[in-house]
Amino acid sequence: MSRITVVGAGKYGSTTVQRLAEWDIVDEVVMTDIVEGLPQGLALDMNQSRPVIGNRTLVIGTNDYADTANSDVVIITAGLPRKPGMSRMDLLEVNAKIVKSVTEQIVRYSPNAVLIVVTNPLDQMATLAADVSGFPRNRVFGQAGILDSSRFAHFISEATGADIQSIDAFTYGSHGETMVPVPSLCRIDGKPLTEVLSPGTIDDLVERTRKGGAEIVALLKTGSAYYAPSAAAARMAKAVIEDSGEHMPVCAWMSGEYGIDGVYLGVMAEVGAGGVRQIVEEPLTDEELAGLVDAAEAVRSKVADLEQINL
Ligand code: APR
Repeated sequence: MSRITVVGAGKYGSTTVQRLAEWDIVDEVVMTDIVEGLPQGLALDMNQSRPVIGNRTLVIGTNDYADTANSDVVIITAGLPRKPGMSRMDLLEVNAKIVKSVTEQIVRYSPNAVLIVVTNPLDQMATLAADVSGFPRNRVFGQAGILDSSRFAHFISEATGADIQSIDAFTYGSHGETMVPVPSLCRIDGKPLTEVLSPGTIDDLVERTRKGGAEIVALLKTGSAYYAPSAAAARMAKAVIEDSGEHMPVCAWMSGEYGIDGVYLGVMAEVGAGGVRQIVEEPLTDEELAGLVDAAEAVRSKVADLEQINL
């Protein structure tokens, strides 16, 4: 029996569950949250949509980690968004405590799972989940690159009028300021992006991508994006479940690739049943490589902040 667990039944978690259930790729998707009734109610609603959608995957809503036992994949979305007046360190402390306790519970019941972390701040949370779980680092990875790449592709499609499905766009590094665009790897219908758009236009689209999450937050007024983020996380879980070997930009543990070692960073990886099979080193321009090295150092210093917290 195949099972995916999603921890956190908020916007991100519940939409991820819905996508996975509708794709019909596992027997069960378990959704858990600390709020009583929330995952159960959402699960009931989703299960009742199956006759219309035509899928069979059963969604189980629970507050009990025993129900998550023997999951093949666990997606951790539990956490709080940053609230007004909260510093970056405050958020780090709150979410680190949540991710630590969630990881301990998950490991207890699913010692062989692959962990996909999406809770922000992502680089720190992926590192923490890896440390707390004690899992091999290839079995713990994070979601950021697929989302940013997908946003970038959307903006390229808007700017060029090209079919969204003809665009291959990638971003490396991490979210926000540490996002590293890699235009040299981007293609429209196989044609290099750099031959279709001017450097200035590419820079503008990169900047909009970098601030893609904030643009949506400003429009929504409450809460943050979840449709594209959930698509990205679900897509990673699908690659693990199907042992597809797909290449996707994920937040993965670096072991010397590009000369970078011992840090979680967004790069292209081959994803399969055991998580990250290997990091795929693509040829980068000198500027892109320098950006990646800088991003690695920025992540390393952010991760050091974790040591100041009493967990
Ligand atoms: N265990 C399980 N669930 C928890 C826990 C916990 N210890 N603590 C909080 N939660 C749940 C909350 O009850 C809530 O239902 O996590 C859920 C978070 O949902 P939302 O507030 O809707 O946030 P969401 O938009 O889903 O984002 C979740 O993803 O993109 C990141 O920055 C975002 O870190 C945030 C996470």
